[in-house]
Amino acid sequence: MKIIGTGSAHPKCCVTNTMLEQFLETTDEWITERTGIKERLVISSEKLEDLAVIAANKALEDANLTAKDIDFIICSNVVNEYVTPALSCIIQGKIGATCPTLDINAACAGFIFAMDMAEDKIRCKKAKNILIVCAEEPSRMVSWENRSTSVLFGDGAGAAVVSEGDELKAIRLTTSSLTDVLYYQRSLEPTPYIDKDENFEPLVMKGRDVFKHAVTNSCRDIRKLLNETGLQPEDIKYYVLHQANLRIIDSIRHFLGVDEERVPHNVERYGNISSAALPALLDELNRAGKLQKGDKLVFSAFGAGFTTGACVIEWAK
Ligand code: UT7
Repeated sequence: MKIIGTGSAHPKCCVTNTMLEQFLETTDEWITERTGIKERLVISSEKLEDLAVIAANKALEDANLTAKDIDFIICSNVVNEYVTPALSCIIQGKIGATCPTLDINAACAGFIFAMDMAEDKIRCKKAKNILIVCAEEPSRMVSWENRSTSVLFGDGAGAAVVSEGDELKAIRLTTSSLTDVLYYQRSLEPTPYIDKDENFEPLVMKGRDVFKHAVTNSCRDIRKLLNETGLQPEDIKYYVLHQANLRIIDSIRHFLGVDEERVPHNVERYGNISSAALPALLDELNRAGKLQKGDKLVFSAFGAGFTTGACVIEWAK
C-alpha cells in the first residue's frame, strides 16, 4: 500500500488560551507549560461532515483521482451529530462516490487502524484505491466547565487516499482494555423498561495515566517497528505522532533519542483533534513540500481504549 494524496480541513472559530481564561480558572501559562497548546479551532457554525468532505476532496485532488475511482471509504470518527447513518455514508454522497463505506472507532489511533484495514483490502485485491477520512469533534464531548479536559481539544478532519504499492513497510496495532482512564458515555433514549442506574457525564480522563500509557506504548511500538524493518532512528525523516500534548511528543522524542527537527508538531495551533490529528499534520508536511519520494516516515498514535497504532511507510509521491 502507498499514500497517494492527503487533505485536511479545520473549523474557523479560534479559541485562544486567553479566551479560556475568561470563563475557566486557568491561565495561558498553565496550558502552555503543561500541553504546549496556545489555541484550538473548534466547530461553531460548521458541520463536521462538511469539514470531512473538504478534507476528502483535497486528498482526492492531491491524488489526481475522482470520487468514482474510489473502491472503499473508511471514516474514523468517535462522535458526530448522527449515530446512524455512519459518517462515511454522508461523506460518500457528498463527494459523489458510489463505493461501499464503513465507520470505525479506534479513538485517536483511528487513522492507523484504518490504514491497516485498507492494506488488507488492497492486498487481497478487493480494492485498488481507498479513501480514509478522519473527522472528529471532541470539543462536543467535554464539559466546557471542566478546565482539566476542555483546554485540550480542537475539531477538524484529515484525509488520505491510499492505493496499491509496497511502501507500507510495517504496521502494528494494539488494544488493552483500560476503559476507566478515558471515556465518554452518550445518553440514550429512556424506555418504560429501563430499571438500571445510568450515569451520563462528559468526557472523563485520568490525565496522568493517559500520559504514561501514551509515552510508554508509543516508544514500544516505534522501537518494535524499527527493529522489524532493520531501520535506525536516524533513517526516519519524520516521526509523525498523534498531536495530543507537546510534553508527550517531547517525551517520546527524548526516549527515542531523536532530534527535534524530525518530530514535527502543530498541536500548539489546533489542540488535540483525535484521529484527525495525524493525517492533518501529514497533509501540512505534504503541502509545505517537506516530503520527498523515498523518505521514510514513522506514524504513531494512541487513544481511548487504550488503543495504539504505528507504522513505517515510505513516501511515494
Ligand atoms: O488523545 C489522548 C487525550 N489525552 C491526553 O493526551 C492527556 C494526557 N495527559 C496530559 O496531557 C496531562 O496529564 C494534562 C495536561 C491533562 C494535565 O497535566 P498534569 O501535569 O498531569 O496535571 P494534573 O492533572 O496532575 O493537575 C495538576 C493541577 C491540579 O491541581 P491540584 O490538584 O494540584 O490543585 C489540577 O486541578 O493542575 C490543575 N489543573 C489546571 N490548572 C489550571 C488541571 N487543569 C488545569 C487548567 N488550568 N486547565
